[in-house]
Amino acid sequence: MASKMGSTNPFNDNPPSINNRIVHFTLYSLLPISLICLYFNIFSLTHSPVQLLQSTVIFNYHSSICSSPPSTSSIEKDMAYNYEKSCNYSNGDWVSDMREPLYNVTTCDTIKETEKCTTNGRPDLGYLYWRWKPNECNLPRFEPNTFLKLVQNKHIAFVGDSLARNQLESLLCMLSTTSTPYLVYQNGEDKKFRRWHFPSRNVNFSLYWSPFLVHGVERSNEGQYYNTMFLDLANERWARDIDLLDMIVISIGHWFLLPSIYYEGNLVIGSLNCPDLNHTQIDFYVPLRKALRTTLNSIVERKVAKGNGIDVIVKTFSPAHFEGDWNKGGGCSKTKPYRKEEKVVGGMEGEIRRIEIEEVESAKFKVKEFGGIRFEILDVTRLALLRPDGHPGPYMNPFPFVNGVQEYVQNDCVHWCLPGPIDTWNEIFLEVMKKWGKYP
Ligand SMILES: *[C@@H]1O[C@H](CO)[C@@H](O)[C@H](O)[C@H]1NC(C)=O
Ligand SMILES: *[C@@H]1O[C@H](CO)[C@@H](O)[C@H](O)[C@H]1NC(C)=O
Ligand SMILES: *[C@@H]1O[C@H](CO)[C@@H](O)[C@H](O)[C@H]1NC(C)=O
Ligand SMILES: *[C@@H]1O[C@H](CO)[C@@H](O)[C@H](O)[C@H]1NC(C)=O
Repeated sequence: MASKMGSTNPFNDNPPSINNRIVHFTLYSLLPISLICLYFNIFSLTHSPVQLLQSTVIFNYHSSICSSPPSTSSIEKDMAYNYEKSCNYSNGDWVSDMREPLYNVTTCDTIKETEKCTTNGRPDLGYLYWRWKPNECNLPRFEPNTFLKLVQNKHIAFVGDSLARNQLESLLCMLSTTSTPYLVYQNGEDKKFRRWHFPSRNVNFSLYWSPFLVHGVERSNEGQYYNTMFLDLANERWARDIDLLDMIVISIGHWFLLPSIYYEGNLVIGSLNCPDLNHTQIDFYVPLRKALRTTLNSIVERKVAKGNGIDVIVKTFSPAHFEGDWNKGGGCSKTKPYRKEEKVVGGMEGEIRRIEIEEVESAKFKVKEFGGIRFEILDVTRLALLRPDGHPGPYMNPFPFVNGVQEYVQNDCVHWCLPGPIDTWNEIFLEVMKKWGKYP
């Protein structure tokens, strides 16, 4: 077992097969708490200064090397095309694209310090020049004005873990290239609850930290080493605001890998990697499914009770890319995407994705009889899996090698550099809304 520990970790490039997962969980539980905390710290938010976004407009198209600058007519053509044709955005390949990202660190103030990869000294810039090419169609470049028009007079909440925050920050950066958002609310340790307002279209975006979606207590360095989750109770921190919301984008996953104790109806149904508690050891797949089901059901119940509608988008699992041991300085040093034939979605990430899709399908079925409640999957697992080069790695900290190569450098191979591959999630998000027929 000791030798196995040197070569495997639950968060690496090639996730353990389902058959092996209990072994991996056991290994994970044997790791010193301090090391678990290192991984865990990657998930916490840092304290960046409160700043309003600037209204800088950037359109950095290099028309000499890219297809064509955005003209109104080309945008409309793209939209008409996609409005008619259905396309599966899940499957595709990353192809080279020399266009500049819509924004950069100097033009967007909402980027978290740990995701400002180029400013933190990341030397290679190649990761910025790739475009997701779905097999059946072209994914149009993000169009901020179209997005804002589609969500005019709406309140959109991003609920879940730190990848919900990462995605919202990407979205705000892209939208702020044409319209200025104002931070109108923030609360909680590490600003885990925030709200931005776009007066131009009366659009609000809220961020709700809720990594289990259901009620619970997160593990912490000072408190218990395990999460406590109440799988049959939605977390009221976001759920109590449901009347205010027109759309919810959900992100969960990584927190379920940590040691946890699970309650249902106030009884413990089992725990994951809490050997001192004498509960039945269960893996996290059933609890994750229950947490998601409770969440989707309670959204429906509350909205139906009020006669209101809502759109709910569940973003699928975003894989991490630690090479070697995440707890021994393992990083993500690749500087290019994988080609589509190099990787398949499988193992742990495949299983989480499957659960998310099944629960959304089941929720869609349940709301057939009610108007106005819509569920959709935002399937990013595959396109994210193919981007080992898109994470901050050691550049989560400014100039990590300024004093030479350290013995241990903490790496973030979970979140995504901004700008970066996560911008694509929002491009697909926009296509989902266009497909809903809300345009014009
Ligand atoms: C799109 O492709 C994915 C992956 O192959 C598949 O799971 C999914 O069912 C497809 N979606 C549709 C709507 O066909
Ligand atoms: C960011 O974009 C602005 C405006 O297009 C440009 O002037 C600046 O050089 C860019 N900065 C970086 C670091 O790429
Ligand atoms: C957005 O929030 C502002 C307050 O900051 C409020 O006046 C406005 O009605 C809200 N709009 C929507 C669509 O929720
Ligand atoms: C777990 O079981 C062991 C052995 O029966 C016992 O000594 C220990 O007190 C129990 N722990 C808890 C938290 O119940």
